[in-house]
Amino acid sequence: METNATTAMTILFFILPLLSFFILSSFKRKRFPPGPKGWPIIGNLLMMDTLTHRGLAKLAARYGGLVHLRMGFLHMFTVSTPDMAREVLQIQDNIFANRPATMNISYLTYDRADMAFANYGPFWRQMRKISVMKLFSRKRAESWDSVREEVDDMVKIVVSNTGCSVNIGELVFGLTRNIIYRAAFGSLSHEGQDEFIKILQEFSKLFGAFNICDFVPGLTWADPQGFMGRLVKARASLDGFIDSIIDEHIEKKKSCKIDEGNSDMVYELLDFYSEDKATVSVSEDLNTSLKLTRDNIKAIIMDVMFGGTETVASAIEWAMSELMRSPEDLKKVQQELNNVVGLHRRVEESDFDKLTFLKCCIKETLRLHPPIPLLLHETAQDAEIAGYHIPARSRVIINSWAVNRDPNSWADPDTFKPSRFLKEGMPDFKGSNFEFIPFGSGRRSCPGMQLGLYALEIAVAHLLHCFSWELPDGMKPSEVDTDDVFGLTAPRATRLVAVPTPRLLCPIC
Ligand code: HEM
Repeated sequence: METNATTAMTILFFILPLLSFFILSSFKRKRFPPGPKGWPIIGNLLMMDTLTHRGLAKLAARYGGLVHLRMGFLHMFTVSTPDMAREVLQIQDNIFANRPATMNISYLTYDRADMAFANYGPFWRQMRKISVMKLFSRKRAESWDSVREEVDDMVKIVVSNTGCSVNIGELVFGLTRNIIYRAAFGSLSHEGQDEFIKILQEFSKLFGAFNICDFVPGLTWADPQGFMGRLVKARASLDGFIDSIIDEHIEKKKSCKIDEGNSDMVYELLDFYSEDKATVSVSEDLNTSLKLTRDNIKAIIMDVMFGGTETVASAIEWAMSELMRSPEDLKKVQQELNNVVGLHRRVEESDFDKLTFLKCCIKETLRLHPPIPLLLHETAQDAEIAGYHIPARSRVIINSWAVNRDPNSWADPDTFKPSRFLKEGMPDFKGSNFEFIPFGSGRRSCPGMQLGLYALEIAVAHLLHCFSWELPDGMKPSEVDTDDVFGLTAPRATRLVAVPTPRLLCPIC
């Protein structure tokens, strides 16, 4: 009897409180951030269509800067305020620096043999070093030369269309494709460009496609949407195209036919080529620490194609659109170009430091229209943000579009006001101001920023300095729409069209 009483007392005073403590503390550990309630098993999968930068901004307005969603068996967190962005891109960057890869992405990147989709680790680090030091470096003059030469060609096209409606969207997408194609493969290979663009378009569709296998484990073998056939075909087309370019480069390299100034990204990558397999070791000397396979070379070239084409083109088109909508600001930039450069010569790189207002317009464009609106990251281990639990291998989406328009950081956040950047101490986009992150921040931030900005500034400066622009058919500035479409990038929904007339008092080309 006494034993029973003692047992009951022990349970009451020791075991029960201990149990409740563990249950409560584990419950506390597992507290997820707020978010819309999901269905059993499928969670929030039915909301898939609303997961665009605009849709996620609406969710943030309702639930806060950190929102939790469950996509089938996958946890997803969206980050929409500067404070939360700092948490994942700076304070806990080491945990949040992996990339999620869907089934389609894994297949098309040769099982993540590239840099953009490689997880954070030794291989990614060495790939990043190659990109920063060899491919996108200012020292690689050929990439910068290809920007200038292709901008010259674009100016010629506009001159030949004086007084006619010019589709600025198509013009600038053509420009950036040419720049990147030439920087990657060299100037001799332009003939296959149309075929390559078709391959890129199919890749782009497959990259962005919703595949149910990514959210329900074990479905991959069944492939209910029939993606596998398309994936195999797309990658085979790329192999057919790039393999012959790589072979051609290997032959030329063997016969030492590469002149100074005639190099391209394939040649740079071939310096690390091994016919066996990719290897990474820790060494200061890149040439001995990293060996790349053909698959690595193809995958990294695709990174450059995707990272460098649509991003820069959509930023140029948005800058032109916002200025066509805002004639006062357009007048101000062109007046600045008159004062700094004059009308008797073309704008040059050495003028850029003095083109303060032009730079403000570029910044304001990147704030309102970050070319990559959603940054996709994945957690390497369990983490905690603001007291909420974020499990390992969760998908984390940083909504750069929403962060850049945060009403607590920006006055009149949705309005194009380039003069806001004239004020002392305004945020910059280099990565340490978390209210302005068009290039991301931290480990996974954009390695092509310098090259991208250079192309963006030089293209916009030439379009505005060489030409006056009118909207077609008596269209009013306020009628230029600002709708965008959502994909890997967020370009205008309709192409911008305008009519150029020359402004310079000297021959333009
Ligand atoms: C206006 C131009 C550009 C913008 C706004 C831009 C923006 C970005 C952003 C936001 C990211 C992702 C950051 C993150 O996930 O946290 C990124 C990554 C990347 N960008 Fe850019 N980019 C531009 C131009 C370029 C150019 C010209 C290239 C190459 C020629 C390039 C190559 C890449 C690559 C390879 C990555 C992946 C880096 C990694 O995962 O480690 N980008 N870019």
